[in-house]
Amino acid sequence: MNWFTDTLSTSIGKKLMMALTGLGFIGFLAAHLAGNLTLYMGQEAFNSYAEHLHSTGPLLKVAEFGLLLLAIIHVATGLTLFYQNWRSRPVRYSVNKSAGGRTIGSSTMPYTGILVLLFVILHLANFHFVDKSGTTIWHIVTDTFNSGGYIFIYIVAMIVVAIHVSHGLWSAFQTLGVSHVKYTPLIWGFSVAFAVIVGVGFGLIPIFISISV
Ligand code: HEM
Repeated sequence: MNWFTDTLSTSIGKKLMMALTGLGFIGFLAAHLAGNLTLYMGQEAFNSYAEHLHSTGPLLKVAEFGLLLLAIIHVATGLTLFYQNWRSRPVRYSVNKSAGGRTIGSSTMPYTGILVLLFVILHLANFHFVDKSGTTIWHIVTDTFNSGGYIFIYIVAMIVVAIHVSHGLWSAFQTLGVSHVKYTPLIWGFSVAFAVIVGVGFGLIPIFISISV
């Protein structure tokens, strides 16, 4: 456990931890989006996908526990960096100044991060910690998106998630040393393209459901 606390005690160690846990979330988002695309195929496809997922039993529990651990480390380290940065102004979190320059994403990371956390808490209350007896996950999702308020919240949240992911992915590449002048546009383009796919892929779901169901 010593290596873990030692790593977290240095600034570069914290950035490394942010990058690795952030990439874990990126992987989760890609898998979650792929699964949620079955929503566009209708009730049967989505319920069958959810049943398959839940039939993995203990595996799913392990994945959920891993996700929770990633979240705790990512949020706690992010908040610590934010606090240290705030205390030592005008010296800023140096990764933000790297080759990508300052963008909306880089300058708002702590704020979009807190909003994503608030969204995830609401989201879990909507779809995860609900009574699933006598209903299906399709009905839980479609009932939620029957409300104009939730449609609005989810669309705004997906824009915030996309902004956070666009800079987070780029920044993780920089921290892990995947950077070269020649490949900068490629890495930046990939980060933005991934963020747009996540934002549009998730963001259209509430709209699609509200007009088609
Ligand atoms: C319109 C967009 C989204 C829809 C319709 C959606 C749908 C769902 C559903 C139905 C579940 C419950 C699965 C179950 O327990 O059977 C779920 C779980 C979850 N979602 Fe989403 N999701 C969306 C976007 C997001 C985003 C953007 C994030 C992250 C920023 C996210 C994070 C999570 C997490 C962490 C879980 C819990 C996973 C687990 O414990 O199994 N979701 N989502």
